[in-house]
Amino acid sequence: MNYGEQGEDWLNLGGRRVNMPAKRVSNNIILGAVFLDREHSTDLVEKANREGFVENEAFAELVKAVLYALDKVETYRKTDKDLLRKHYGPQDTAQPVVTSIAELREFVGEKIKEASTQEDIDRYLVRIENEYERITETLLKSAGAGLNLIVVIHQIEKIIKDIKAMLKKKVSFEEIEERIKALSALVEGYSILVKKSQKKAHGIKSLLDQSVANVRFRLDDHHIKVLKDYSEYNALCSEDHMISALMNLFDNSIWWLKYAKVEQPQIYMNVSKKIHGYTTVIFADNGPGFTLSTDEIVKPFVTNKPDGMGIGLHLTQEIMKSLGGDLKFPNKSEAEDLNVPKGFLEGAIVALSFKEKEGEK
Ligand SMILES: Nc1ncnc2c1ncn2[C@@H]1O[C@H](COP(=O)(O)OP(=O)(O)OP(=O)(O)O)[C@@H](O)[C@H]1O
Ligand SMILES: [Mg+2]
Repeated sequence: MNYGEQGEDWLNLGGRRVNMPAKRVSNNIILGAVFLDREHSTDLVEKANREGFVENEAFAELVKAVLYALDKVETYRKTDKDLLRKHYGPQDTAQPVVTSIAELREFVGEKIKEASTQEDIDRYLVRIENEYERITETLLKSAGAGLNLIVVIHQIEKIIKDIKAMLKKKVSFEEIEERIKALSALVEGYSILVKKSQKKAHGIKSLLDQSVANVRFRLDDHHIKVLKDYSEYNALCSEDHMISALMNLFDNSIWWLKYAKVEQPQIYMNVSKKIHGYTTVIFADNGPGFTLSTDEIVKPFVTNKPDGMGIGLHLTQEIMKSLGGDLKFPNKSEAEDLNVPKGFLEGAIVALSFKEKEGEK
């Protein structure tokens, strides 16, 4: 009595924390016992009311000894605390890609049993990680890095979603490998985004098919049907950028179709030549449609999605601009003119207009 009673702070734990609150243990989270040998502790004298010891020199020594021991514990605890914080703490959210890849790696460990397959996948993950590091390093060195850096983070996060969906579906390893290979190539492509994009006339059909294939597993996961209503035309673009642009449209539609709990979720794609000199990809879903002004949603950081960054459409617009094309949001009557079927007229409708070839208007 009365050491250890509530409110009694005989070691002055509270005072000690003032300068080092992270390291020092506070009184209310510690439970400890000090064993004294009555026979050999004759210098310690109990107070007359038997509430603790008389504060003599021996008592001061006792306090010092206990604090010394406590300090050792605190030092070890601090090391562990820092490690725990590093791995699980809030700083990790400032490292979005790295954390996602770590999660994916864990997921691979759970879902894929063969060690050799795991290793193979891991090789690509390491490559994505390295590539990411290299890109972010370059970007951080250049002026105005901010948004480009965010774009890289944003796109890699989306890619990781695709890979997760594939693993969930227990797809064959060959397929996963191929996809991860393609994705790590895509990541390399983002470093080009900063530079001038490599554009040339591409047949658009295979690119659209490719972009659908890329998100096939996420689409399946949410039972979303894609109506492909397009035929072959040429468009001036770069393969990677075109696929990145579409990836963002898919990502948005998948999210909103799910969020709105649409009963028969669908995405509609077609290619129109209605705008002279341009090849226009029409992309629509039968979800709730845009609830923010379309002038706003192309701006960076504009989002009304709880976990959104508000980068997808901004990036898509930047890509279209860099290709000499345009991103538009047809209204209902324009969409009808572009042959968008009835069921999609209330949903989100996006048009990506590409030039047909270099030099043309
Ligand atoms: N298919 C869609 N249906 C309804 N609203 C959409 C659709 N696509 C985009 N939007 C609206 O446009 C906003 C901006 O989209 P954008 O892709 O730029 O960012 P985000 O999806 O919110 O976040 P991020 O893409 O960075 O994860 C969305 O928050 C949403 O309000
Ligand atoms: Mg988006």
